[in-house]
Amino acid sequence: MHLDPLALHRQFPLLAKHIAGKPLAYLDNAATTQKPERVLETMKKFYEHQNGNINRGMHPMAEEATVLYESARKTVAHFMGARHAHEIIFTRNATESINLVARSFGETLEKDDTVALSLLEHHSNIVPWLQLSERKGIAIEWIGLDAHGRIDLDSLKKILKKGKMKLVAVAGLSNVLGVATPLQAIIEMTHAAGAKILIDAAQLIAHQSIDVQKLDCDFLAFSGHKIYGPTGIGVLYGKQELLERMPPFLGGGDMLESVDLLGFKPAELPRKFEAGTPAIADAVGLASAIEWMGEVGIEAMHAHTKELIGYARKALRSIPHVQILGPASGDDLLGCVSFTVTGIHPHDLTEILGREGICLRAGHHCAMPLHKHLGIPASTRLSVAAYNTEEEVDRCVNAILRARKLLYD
Ligand SMILES: Cc1ncc(COP(=O)(O)O)c(C=O)c1O
Repeated sequence: MHLDPLALHRQFPLLAKHIAGKPLAYLDNAATTQKPERVLETMKKFYEHQNGNINRGMHPMAEEATVLYESARKTVAHFMGARHAHEIIFTRNATESINLVARSFGETLEKDDTVALSLLEHHSNIVPWLQLSERKGIAIEWIGLDAHGRIDLDSLKKILKKGKMKLVAVAGLSNVLGVATPLQAIIEMTHAAGAKILIDAAQLIAHQSIDVQKLDCDFLAFSGHKIYGPTGIGVLYGKQELLERMPPFLGGGDMLESVDLLGFKPAELPRKFEAGTPAIADAVGLASAIEWMGEVGIEAMHAHTKELIGYARKALRSIPHVQILGPASGDDLLGCVSFTVTGIHPHDLTEILGREGICLRAGHHCAMPLHKHLGIPASTRLSVAAYNTEEEVDRCVNAILRARKLLYD
């Protein structure tokens, strides 16, 4: 099944925007995607006709909002292949999902228990574990990368042999190198060592279908805003038996069965992990985005973005003085490509391009340890979505050529 990126493009109001008279080439999708009309309409309808607080009220809107919120949970569960809807916890974003695991699963760990992270990780999958290390004295082991920037399975094997490993937490797709992680192998090795696995799927979820039961991962985190949904809504998948053993993350209304002056009894899953009024409209908006993706076809999206990022890599490689970070080729390259241009600071380049509506991202992309490992402070990143075209990539490449000329000739 093929998709027509231009037909999709027309469904996104923001993509019709012009900057300095030039059409937008939005190539910053790894940071956040734009939202289709359908998602915007769903959320508008929610606030205009269905808004009420969930679980508590008995009036028609409270009831309707509760049904919509729980139906959104079922949509997410189906999308990810979860066995039960109550294994889906709504959070604010992937960051909060990972923090939930670090706080709550982390509470079950003891001094010197070990968590393994890779050098590829986004700060969201580093800092919560450093905080846990400060709090409980857990040890952190770093899984190395091979010469091309791929996760080194031998390094993981050595770390797992040391024992005391309780959790391996890795990104499913690097937000800098655009290289997908060999998840199946890592999950099998981790389980064979008796440890649990958390997948940070913040990037992978936009480019590949994910089935948590087939993968047999223990936890998986992502954000709605990177898959055409709204900001403010994220997902944590966790296996029922693990979530049941974990203490609540935040305390407050809705997460308890009963409370008295001496203590409280937490509610059943998933409410135990959803204290306070959740992002109801955003959950409904996320379900709408997932339905939209299903109609476009996840496989078609995968094929299109994979082909397009391959095209972008080739086009960038043809520019003199451009160095692409990470592997030169491979079937595991998805979503984004990062590069440096000799003599131009990534921030300057990105600003020059932005002035003509070409939206890229510059900096360390919240992956300072990876940039340190690569020996550079920053890079420029181009990242694609289902609505992007080769013509937009060509415009970007021509603009980079012009920018270099402007600065050097
Ligand atoms: C790999 C990865 N993990 C985690 C995150 C954090 O996502 P959020 O800021 O939506 O929580 C990002 C965001 O770019 C990411 O790329």
